[in-house]
Amino acid sequence: MGEFEFPTMAHTWLAQERRGARIRWAKARGEVLDVEAYAALIDERTLVVPATHVCFRNGFRLDVAALARLCRERGAYLFLDDYQRTGSAPLDVRALGVDFMVTGCLKYLLGPAGVAFLYVRKELIGRLEPAVTGWFGRVNPFAYAIDRLDWSASARRFEAGTPPVPNAFAARAGIELLERYQTSAIEAHVRALSGRLVEQARAAGYVVATPAEAARRGPLVVLRSTDAPRLVERLKAHGIIGSCRGDGLRISFHGYNDASDVDAVVAALQQESALLRRVEAVRA
Ligand SMILES: Cc1ncc(COP(=O)(O)O)c(C=O)c1O
Repeated sequence: MGEFEFPTMAHTWLAQERRGARIRWAKARGEVLDVEAYAALIDERTLVVPATHVCFRNGFRLDVAALARLCRERGAYLFLDDYQRTGSAPLDVRALGVDFMVTGCLKYLLGPAGVAFLYVRKELIGRLEPAVTGWFGRVNPFAYAIDRLDWSASARRFEAGTPPVPNAFAARAGIELLERYQTSAIEAHVRALSGRLVEQARAAGYVVATPAEAARRGPLVVLRSTDAPRLVERLKAHGIIGSCRGDGLRISFHGYNDASDVDAVVAALQQESALLRRVEAVRA
């Protein structure tokens, strides 16, 4: 497991230690987590490699194709968390050879909390019996049987109890909105916007945690701040809604943004620049 995981993902796997699993950590080099860090750890005893596609803390994007290749070569499953990217760019799990993928509606799928997705490679479904289950996982939930644990032949076996139905309606509205556009067009648009912010922030001398290389970033850009919660508050007064993670200010883009939004962020940051870390201050 890499050091860039979201807490829930890390906790889920840490919880497996009680069942005999051993977690090994792929270490980051500063703001970068290379596939080499995983390569140093994956061997014939590795069952599964949990990996986040885009890091929620700094926007670093993993080379999923390379990690999937490595996992395949060494006989380990790849379990991808695409939460910080789904809806902002396409992802072909089959072509990449991803075994499992999780994501949710709360970010770039423009939906509410409470609705998430699990993809399981088809050939694996019949071999897996979840540790947590409920009536929706049964062959026929409406048999209401309490005396047997049969498993739906389809991916429905991974479901548990009653889903949050009102949230599903809101989630559908977000997804239907996005379906009017090509995800690849959104990706290109968002990439240009995030690139514009990275470039201008670097030119201004701010510490940009997110890689400059387009292939190494997702839809979010993180700048290091001396007081990120305060900076988020200050930006609100400029009409800009960002978020903070640790000492990072996170600015996220989607298809509905344009270059004028980036320029508005840059102008506001200039006015609040006392709250931004600068490269020369870090080097000093
Ligand atoms: C990378 C990543 N994974 C997962 C989640 C969501 O986890 P949970 O469903 O526990 O809120 C988030 C939320 O921001 C995230 O950034």
